[in-house]
Amino acid sequence: MRPKYIEIMEEIKQRLASKSLVAGSRLPSVRQLSDHLSCSKNTVIKAYEELEKEHLIYSVPKSGYFVVNEWQLETDESAVIDFLSAGPDRNVMPYIEFQHCMNKAIEQYKEELFTYSDQQGLYSLRVQVARYLQNLQVFTVPERVVVVSGSQQALHLLASMPFPNGKNNILIEQPTYFGFIESLKLQQATTFGIELSMKGIDLERLEYIFRNNDIKFFYIIPRFHNPLGHCYTNSEKKKIVELAEKYDVYIVEDDFLGDLDTDTKSDPLFSFAPSGRVIYIKSFSKIFLPGLRIATIVLPSLMVSNFLRYKFSADFNSPALSQGALEIYLKSGMFTSHLKKIKEVYYTKMHILQEACECLLPSDTYFSKPPSGFYLSVSLPGNVTAKQIVHLLNEKNILVDDASRMFLPEYKKENLLRLSISQVKEHQIRQGVEELAKCIAMLSSRRNYIKPRNLLLF
Ligand SMILES: Cc1ncc(COP(=O)(O)O)c(C=O)c1O
Repeated sequence: MRPKYIEIMEEIKQRLASKSLVAGSRLPSVRQLSDHLSCSKNTVIKAYEELEKEHLIYSVPKSGYFVVNEWQLETDESAVIDFLSAGPDRNVMPYIEFQHCMNKAIEQYKEELFTYSDQQGLYSLRVQVARYLQNLQVFTVPERVVVVSGSQQALHLLASMPFPNGKNNILIEQPTYFGFIESLKLQQATTFGIELSMKGIDLERLEYIFRNNDIKFFYIIPRFHNPLGHCYTNSEKKKIVELAEKYDVYIVEDDFLGDLDTDTKSDPLFSFAPSGRVIYIKSFSKIFLPGLRIATIVLPSLMVSNFLRYKFSADFNSPALSQGALEIYLKSGMFTSHLKKIKEVYYTKMHILQEACECLLPSDTYFSKPPSGFYLSVSLPGNVTAKQIVHLLNEKNILVDDASRMFLPEYKKENLLRLSISQVKEHQIRQGVEELAKCIAMLSSRRNYIKPRNLLLF
């Protein structure tokens, strides 16, 4: 006999198919349905939770369960398999709940809409952020927090402003986040690289660079690295902070996905030097809504006023409405339950992806094994290039990213792919990897039979 919750799911799916339940409809409450079907509430909850995982319905705390919007209902199996997009999974975004916060913010923060508000960011939001950051082992005060228009802005301003160590050059991991490479390039900042692999960085090389290259700061993405998916161990993080102290180098820690960490013992670099050596950046774009354009930065006290001068010259202050709504959202506790949900969603998708890579990719193809996060990188064999793979997969409606633009020219690799799990549907992951495996096998075998001078395939 089939479990009761499956029967309930199927009944609801049939109603969706026949359009007797349409986008936005509210489903019967758990109590109503359990009374009606004479089953336990847990059975109904299980059915609803499973339907939620399949992105057919969504829940609104204290309001109930609703059918997802039409744009979310993708029944077309030939739809794009998207390993490219790096925005958050829109199916788990708390859009409706947040709408309430926006409406409330218009009322509550009316004054800030009519004026230029605090350059450092709404104090009430900074209080909430300082409280929230404690969960990430970042203990600070609202006076050291600055609200910025995305972490991209924070990075851009840090690259342009002088630092208390009076040094000039910037060190970045190789590869790293493309947006920062662009910013450095446009600002013509002298930039050094240090190679990062899934085994980490060479700490002796790091010491050498710190000692000899007038490094102002080292930009580091310590958890769920973009694009590699790499995470540093606590002892590596501690050692990096010690070296930074020794050679008077600042660390800029971009913990963009730290909230997804399932390892409760993993600490940010900030926690090893909370008073000022490490500048900590927390974006709300990946775990929440990129359109808010809100991130926060924790600065050493002695850098706050100068940073604010640079921020002022860029855009006065970040949007008050976004700040107000985020403050309300954080304070209400909704953010905590949202986070719980997305942690599970991304963890599950990442594990499905890894299992598929393990089973399907050729043995000479290496891939990273991040415990969660958005990105997994694939190192292609021999002369197979990421560009070739992107091209072949695009023709099959499968999108993946060529990571070659995420390197400085002298470190460039042409054989690294970045797969993002943020927007791909769970049930499409295996099919996408199957096609990737076929393309790699096809290009590898062609390569073996082609005369060397004809190696370029496109
Ligand atoms: C590692 C990393 N840092 C920063 C950013 C920029 O994010 P924000 O939207 O906060 O500017 C991104 C965006 O993709 C990113 O991947």
